[in-house]
Amino acid sequence: MHKKLLQAAHGHASTYLDTIQSRHVGARAEDVAALAGLDGPLSDAGEDPQTTLDTLATIGGPATTGSAGPRYFGFVTGGTLPVALAANWQVAAWDQNGFTHLSSPAAATIEAIALRWLVDLLNLPAGTGGAFVTGATMANFTALAAARSKILTDAGWDVERMGLFGAPPITVVVGGEAHSTLFKSLGLLGLGRERVVEVPADDQGRMIAAELPEISGPTIVCLQAGNVNSGAFDPASELCAKAKAAGAWVHVDGAFGLWAAAAPERAHLMQGFEGADSWACDAHKWLNVSYDSGLAFVRDPEHLRAAMAISASYLPQGEAREPFAFTPESSRRARGVEIWAVLRALGRNGVAELVSRNCRQAQRFAEGLSAAGYTVLNDVVLNQVVVAFGDDETTARIIAAIQEDGTCWCGGTHWRGRGAMRISVSSWATRDEDVERSLDAIVRIAQANV
Ligand SMILES: Cc1ncc(COP(=O)(O)O)c(C=O)c1O
Repeated sequence: MHKKLLQAAHGHASTYLDTIQSRHVGARAEDVAALAGLDGPLSDAGEDPQTTLDTLATIGGPATTGSAGPRYFGFVTGGTLPVALAANWQVAAWDQNGFTHLSSPAAATIEAIALRWLVDLLNLPAGTGGAFVTGATMANFTALAAARSKILTDAGWDVERMGLFGAPPITVVVGGEAHSTLFKSLGLLGLGRERVVEVPADDQGRMIAAELPEISGPTIVCLQAGNVNSGAFDPASELCAKAKAAGAWVHVDGAFGLWAAAAPERAHLMQGFEGADSWACDAHKWLNVSYDSGLAFVRDPEHLRAAMAISASYLPQGEAREPFAFTPESSRRARGVEIWAVLRALGRNGVAELVSRNCRQAQRFAEGLSAAGYTVLNDVVLNQVVVAFGDDETTARIIAAIQEDGTCWCGGTHWRGRGAMRISVSSWATRDEDVERSLDAIVRIAQANV
C-alpha cells in the first residue's frame, strides 16, 4: 500500500515542481474559488487514498502560492531545496518523535550534530546551546524565556516555580523597528507587548545606539539582525558593549539576517552580534528547508534548560543532550534532520553561495528599478529591496497589477510612512535570468500603470 501511495505522491510532487517555472506565481482567483471542491460533508465511508491524493493535486495544487519556484519574492521565506524536501520525505517515513533519545536516538543525535554545525557556521560562541522550534516567533519566545529565567534568578526570583506574580520588574528594551512577532513573544512570556522601552530607529530601521537608555535592574535588550523590510542590522558592537556592561541580557532577533554570518562578504553585517546572550533564527527562511523550522540559540545552554526542562518518572535525566530539555514542545517532528541534510549536502561553501547570490540579485533589482526611475527606499545591504513607484495609491495599484500578471510575486509594505513594494530574494531556485525576467515584468507593468 505505501509504495503505491508514495509513488502517487512522488508523481504529483514532481509534476508540480516540473511546471513551477512556467506557472502564474500567485494563486489565481478561479483556482482559489475551486478549493470549494475539497469541501462537503465528512463522509462516513471514506475513499480510496489514491483518489484523495489525486484530488489534492488537481484542486489543491493550482491554488498554492508558487513559493517553491524561482520568482517568488514574498515574506523572506525562500523555497525548499531538493535535498531538504527529499530528507523531509525520508524522515517522515521514519515517523520519529524527536523529543528524546528514547523515542528516537537518530533524531536526537542528528539534531545535536546539526546544532554544532550551525553554531560554527553562524559564528556563534563555542558551546552555544539551542532548540529546534517551529519558527522565529517561537525561537524568540524560547530564547527570551531563557533570558527571563536567568535575570530573575540573578534577582533572587525563581520564575519557573513562582511565575511573574510578585516578581521583580523586568525592563525590556526594543528598537523602534522591531518585528511585530517579537512583541507577541514578549506578550506570551508575560512581559507585555507594550510594556517596553522603545529606542528610536534611524532611516534604515537601525536602533540609534546613542539613544539606548541608562540600564539598571533586570533588563533584556532585544537587537535585530535583518529588518524585515530594509534588511538593516542594528549597531551591535556598541549596543552589546553598553548593555552587557550594565548587566543586561542581550537577545538578537535574526530570523533571516543571522545567515549573513555564513557568507564571507556579508559577515561584517553580523559584527558585534556574537557578543549577545541569545539569538533567534529561521532555517525555513534562508537555509531553504521546509516549514516549520526555527532555531533558538542560547550562549549558556543551562539557562535554556532552566526555562524548558521537565521531569517525569519515565524520562531520562542523564548526561546526553535531551531535546525536550530545551524546547517548549515535547512531542514533535525531527526537524533537525532536514537541517543536517542541507548542511551536509551544501557544506559551508554552498550556504555561502546561496546567501551571496541572493544578496547580489537583490542589488541587481535595486539597480534596475532605480535605472527605470523608481525610488529604492533602503540601502540594499542584504537581500531586501523596498521600492516606491510614486504616491501610495500608484504603488498599491502597481503591486496589485504585478501580482495579477503572475511573472513574479512581491508584496506590499509600509516603510517610514510610505507605501512600498518589498522584494525579498531568498530562494536557492532564483537564477539571474529569473531576476531579469522579473525586473522586465515589474518595469513594464509599472510603466503601464502610472
Ligand atoms: C525579523 C523577524 N523576526 C521574526 C519573524 C517571524 O518569523 P516566523 O514567521 O518564522 O515566526 C520574521 C519573519 O519574517 C522576521 O523577519
